[in-house]
Amino acid sequence: MTGHDHHQRSERIAEEDLVEMVGRFYARVRRDALLGPVFDHGVHDWNRHLHRLVAFWSSVINGTGRYRGDPMAIHAAQAITPQMFDRWLGLWRETTMAVLDPPSAALMQERAERMADAIRRHIS
Ligand code: HEM
Repeated sequence: MTGHDHHQRSERIAEEDLVEMVGRFYARVRRDALLGPVFDHGVHDWNRHLHRLVAFWSSVINGTGRYRGDPMAIHAAQAITPQMFDRWLGLWRETTMAVLDPPSAALMQERAERMADAIRRHIS
């Protein structure tokens, strides 16, 4: 859980909680009947993927600038259906609520929904 007060003030969400979030979320994604096959096909190196996703969220939430990449182009290359977006966001909502305090969970949900909207607009 976050909400302990030893993490640095410049971090809105502790980096260790972002690691926990990303690890738990993609473990669920990989077991999911709808999303699992897309990721099994699209991700060749899970260790690298998880590191990149932690860097992404660290940049989005804590402004660290650790992520450099082009998620729009990457998702345009995947066959993503509207049901997949709903499932992705549903699992994200559940995982954020399980791992984070409510304000942090709400923040990460809001950012994920924004990103999902941007990807949806980009690929449609
Ligand atoms: C149904 C929804 C989604 C599916 C099926 C999906 C699928 C994928 C797949 C297969 C990859 C790996 C592709 C590659 O490395 O070449 C990937 C990468 C990534 N995804 Fe998603 N994604 C979805 C939604 C999202 C959302 C909502 C976000 C952000 C909030 C997100 C953020 C990212 C990022 C940051 C990467 C890494 C890009 C990089 O390596 O630079 N994705 N996604």
